[in-house]
Amino acid sequence: MSLRLDWGKLGFKYMPTKCHIRSTWRGGRWSRPELSKKDELTLSIAATCLHYGQACFEGLKAFKDKDGRIRIFRPGENLKRMNSTADFLHCPRIPEDLYFDALMKVVRENADYVPPYGTGGSLYIRPLLIGSGPTIGVSPSEEYTLLILVIPVGPYYKGGMKGVKSVILDGHDRTAPMGTGHVKVAGNYAAGLHPSIKAKKMGFPIVLYLDSKTRKYIDEFGTSNFIAVDRKGAYVTPDSSTILPSITNKSLITIAKDMGVKVERRPVRLAELSKFVEVGACGTAVVITPVETIKYNDREWHFPNSDKGLLKSLHDRLVGIQFGEVEDKFGWLMDCPVKKRP
Ligand SMILES: Cc1ncc(COP(=O)(O)O)c(C=O)c1O
Repeated sequence: MSLRLDWGKLGFKYMPTKCHIRSTWRGGRWSRPELSKKDELTLSIAATCLHYGQACFEGLKAFKDKDGRIRIFRPGENLKRMNSTADFLHCPRIPEDLYFDALMKVVRENADYVPPYGTGGSLYIRPLLIGSGPTIGVSPSEEYTLLILVIPVGPYYKGGMKGVKSVILDGHDRTAPMGTGHVKVAGNYAAGLHPSIKAKKMGFPIVLYLDSKTRKYIDEFGTSNFIAVDRKGAYVTPDSSTILPSITNKSLITIAKDMGVKVERRPVRLAELSKFVEVGACGTAVVITPVETIKYNDREWHFPNSDKGLLKSLHDRLVGIQFGEVEDKFGWLMDCPVKKRP
């Protein structure tokens, strides 16, 4: 089958694909993952994910290389993070064999939805783990649903990286000092919706959050880690217990070190913004979004080099590995063999 999708026009939007995959946990056991063509879920009206936010999720991608091979980027890292989120929300852990089996099956079944090499697109994979059993008192569910859905997404940068403006808002914190910032719980994103809409109305596509205890240190952006390059050319990124450990950031750090770049993962003071020559927001969706300005009340910092220089080189090298144009010397890609149709 050849799909009639306008690969060049894909954004980052939901669309139904051929199927998703689903497994249910009951009485301490996971069911065999099953593919489902229906993109709907039947759920108890008293499910804990609806009332008490027992919901964990992940985001990763599969890429097609020039030979048409499909490969998934660092899926084991997402499983580790999903299970640390599951521990935090008192959900059952996802066993490794079940996860990889389900992941491979759903990607393979949706192979036609993986954008062809050269379009810059990829298959976005969203694992979701929710408390699906009915519980009206506040307590963990006795039933859980794991599902993995996939959607084709377009390249963020069709003609070169584009810088964005960011803002720090007084009156909004992302997470509490000993709260949920280090795990990927759905509630973190609900709490970020209002500040994000407010920032967009002010002309700032992304919000930068400070640490919520002292508001003196940089934490991260709403959906991505903060990375910067200082005047000496070092890669600087915050060390904080309230940010999500980004797999993209981890990968960029490995590449930077491999290129001989000094890497500093440490608490980063807000006052240090004046020392940075490049700033970026990194995550699975875009790899790196260059940040051209950061505004905080009446102060504004400018980073005219964010879309060139080191961040651009790191972006290009990581994207090169993902699309199979640069050697995968760290062994990050997992093959997802698809049987050729007769
Ligand atoms: C709050 C937050 N920080 C950072 C990231 C980037 O993480 P990753 O590189 O694993 O996509 C994400 C996206 O998942 C995120 O939601």
